[in-house]
Amino acid sequence: MSEIIRYEQVDICYEGQLAVHDISFSLQEGEILGIVGESGSGKSTLLKAALNMLGKDGLVTRGDIYYKGLDLPDISEKEMQKICGAEIGMIFQMAGSSFCPIRTVGAQIKEMMAAHGHEDAQLVEQETCELFAKFGFSEAKRIWDSYPFELSGGMQQRVGVAAAMLLKPKILLADEPTSALDVTVQKQVIEEMLLARKLFGTAIILVTHNIGVIRTMADTMLVLHQGEMMEYGRARDVLANPQSAYTKKLLAAVPRLRRSKASYGRDTASQAS
Ligand SMILES: Nc1ncnc2c1ncn2[C@@H]1O[C@H](COP(=O)(O)OP(=O)(O)OP(=O)(O)O)[C@@H](O)[C@H]1O
Ligand SMILES: [Mg+2]
Repeated sequence: MSEIIRYEQVDICYEGQLAVHDISFSLQEGEILGIVGESGSGKSTLLKAALNMLGKDGLVTRGDIYYKGLDLPDISEKEMQKICGAEIGMIFQMAGSSFCPIRTVGAQIKEMMAAHGHEDAQLVEQETCELFAKFGFSEAKRIWDSYPFELSGGMQQRVGVAAAMLLKPKILLADEPTSALDVTVQKQVIEEMLLARKLFGTAIILVTHNIGVIRTMADTMLVLHQGEMMEYGRARDVLANPQSAYTKKLLAAVPRLRRSKASYGRDTASQAS
């Protein structure tokens, strides 16, 4: 297995104010890293930094984020356009809402694929419908022809994940992809991400408040608190035997239910701050 991405002693500031300090971690091919931490701890900031999406006020002020030997914060906008989506995919909490409301899902997918050099529209449609079917969508062609508002919010999110996988990115950055969903759709989105890893060897950095999701999916786990790394290690070890006082408090706030593999819904640590 080879290393896909490595954060090395990363500091990130907004308007000169330190938001994230001295963060180091790496992912191998196919690895899933779960990042947890209370609101404002810097989780999204860490993901955005990999795609130079920190906005005009944000800056990586120290350290490096290596991807295939490239230091991502230093690459040109043009180089980033090639990598973004095709090599490093991203999905957000409301991936569905990133669809334009007045154009069909298919038209938008064709445009995205053409922007990355896949200009044979018929082939794109065929491959998309095949991937939709692999992801268990029963009416792939209907979804392709739909306007986003004709799909439920949960279905929009599932389509968003599938669309992110069309370019077979090496890494998927997933920022609370299941937070806005009911338990059944959460489970489907989680299964989609696991299938994406199986089919394409995609590594995933997954930001979530839901310890149940971490328990189900993550190989490794990173706990953030006020921009500092509290703990980082194998998810199984951190969950069973947390070392830092903060992680202990965070995990203690998770309701102690008898857990099955499918208990993502109730297992939230968002109130643990
Ligand atoms: N564009 C910005 N300008 C100034 N400060 C920002 C900006 N974006 C984020 N911050 C600050 O950086 C810190 C980290 O924010 P970030 O959005 O990464 O947190 P988070 O862990 O993703 O929180 P949440 O769980 O609420 O999504 C916060 O203090 C936030 O106020
Ligand atoms: Mg966030």
